[in-house]
Amino acid sequence: MVPINLKNRHFNEWEKMTQGCSKLNGLKVLLGISGGIAAYKAVDMASKLTAAGADVHSIMTQNACELIRPKSIEAVTGNQVFTKLWNMPQEYRIGHIDLSTQTDVVIVAPATANIIGKVAGGICDDLLSTTLCACWQKPVIFAPAMNNRMWTNPTVQKNIETLKQMNFKIVGPDTGRLACGETGIGRMAQPDEIIKAIEQIAGSTPA
Ligand SMILES: Cc1cc2nc3c(=O)[nH]c(=O)nc-3n(C[C@H](O)[C@H](O)[C@H](O)COP(=O)(O)O)c2cc1C
Repeated sequence: MVPINLKNRHFNEWEKMTQGCSKLNGLKVLLGISGGIAAYKAVDMASKLTAAGADVHSIMTQNACELIRPKSIEAVTGNQVFTKLWNMPQEYRIGHIDLSTQTDVVIVAPATANIIGKVAGGICDDLLSTTLCACWQKPVIFAPAMNNRMWTNPTVQKNIETLKQMNFKIVGPDTGRLACGETGIGRMAQPDEIIKAIEQIAGSTPA
């Protein structure tokens, strides 16, 4: 049993955390996690969104599952993580369509060069890319994260322009130390910055 004073402490901390975040309360967020080294930051972001009252449902690519485990996201969101097009739970008639219609805001973090290219090119070859294809009329935020040599590739930049033309929001990437040890542009934006972008969208979306 949790002692009363500890319970109060947790409640106060939760209240403090959610102050100013009321726009997230009840918001249905679909979090897409692709196979970038920054996938571990998605756990922190999913946790903060959930603490602020958002209902976070997540899709992880097979490559993301190589970097972090779905269980980490499930533990912080309280919701099952989906990883495959063909084995959705029975309550989902057609999983990728149900996920796309049941969401208010979509966020892809980290967004690999691969998922950016697939969405820009209309490719649907796994659960995340197929669901994103069905989400094109929703507010969608991408948080790209990759090595600077990949980010500056003209094709990646062309794909980013295509996403912007589709009214998708791009947050980051930041400049700093990259996973490979080099310094340059490509770090995923901080979860707080991405959450601010979600709040802005939530604030401008009719309830
Ligand atoms: C250790 C490791 C880290 C990687 N980090 C990144 C990354 O930060 N960004 C990126 O675009 N690709 C990264 N990749 C490559 C992607 O995982 C690869 O392009 C993959 O096909 C992406 O698939 P997905 O978009 O379906 O998750 C990384 C690969 C490995 C092995």
